[in-house]
Amino acid sequence: MAYKLNVNGQSHTVDAAPDTPLLWVLRDILDLRGTKYGCGIGQCRACTVHLNGKAVPSCQTPVSVVGAQAVTTIEGLSADGTHPVQVAWMETDVAQCGYCQAGQMMAAAALLAHTPHPTDKQIDSAMNGNLCRCGTYLRIREAIHKAASAKTVQTAQIAK
Ligand code: FES
Ligand code: FES
Repeated sequence: MAYKLNVNGQSHTVDAAPDTPLLWVLRDILDLRGTKYGCGIGQCRACTVHLNGKAVPSCQTPVSVVGAQAVTTIEGLSADGTHPVQVAWMETDVAQCGYCQAGQMMAAAALLAHTPHPTDKQIDSAMNGNLCRCGTYLRIREAIHKAASAKTVQTAQIAK
């Protein structure tokens, strides 16, 4: 079945079964490999993307429910890697193996879009579902505070 999707500000028509997870549409059809497959059962959030700015696990999001909602992946967080979260991640040297980090950054960007200056408790609550086997949680929290103090928290949607 054909679905028209808005991904990172661009319109795409994809052919997929209705229950195909958005994760596979992004990775296998649109070749956007920044979004990672971790567990496939909604338990790790490595596959986090934004739907209309809300962080969702793309492995648990059938392509048929996406509709006209804006999909943003790590590739679309900014045009040039200058989203405050990306800058803070680099400055804080957050990543270890890196596998979970795209999902972590997408969750952090969604948090900061609606809570520009989160407390530790709000960060821990918002990031709770995003697992990191390397245990980078303290650096993630530090980077989120750093991004929050940056002058401009951009929206998670790539500028058109
Ligand atoms: S791959 Fe989607 S939650 Fe783990
Ligand atoms: S950096 Fe390795 S799993 Fe998070």
